[in-house]
Amino acid sequence: MSEEITEKKNDSNWKPLILGILCNWCSYAGADLAGSSRLKHPANLRIVRVPCSGRVNPLFVLKGFQKGFDGVMVLGCHPGDCHYAKGNYYARRRIMLLKELLQSMGIEPERFHFEWVSASEGVRFAELVSEMSEKIEKVGPFTGVDCSKVPAAF
Ligand code: FES
Repeated sequence: MSEEITEKKNDSNWKPLILGILCNWCSYAGADLAGSSRLKHPANLRIVRVPCSGRVNPLFVLKGFQKGFDGVMVLGCHPGDCHYAKGNYYARRRIMLLKELLQSMGIEPERFHFEWVSASEGVRFAELVSEMSEKIEKVGPFTGVDCSKVPAAF
């Protein structure tokens, strides 16, 4: 176990660090609305803005965990609202497979969340971040993948 992870595990003030990968047109605007409305949510979210949830390569999520985030959330436009027509449908299919991959790697399901958030849902955005932060606090810091538990096919 690296020193950084050991420190993280022993830190009594530890708060989960969350990576949010947000579609520019809906979810990022929802996050912006939450901010401009001064809605309270944990400040431990780091946002990466993408043009569409369909742009999210599952490797972005894995890279987030590799870089030390305790959780990753991917947010996109509601079905029918994608500015590129089908991007969020493609994202949904990829994410379904990604969830299985994460599970097979032993990454707790609480650490990943995929959701639709529109530009008018600032309150919903703030609630989602708070809920995810609370869930991750319960499972604790992400300490990496235990390779002994990963099936040989990987
Ligand atoms: S533009 Fe938002 S999910 Fe496609």
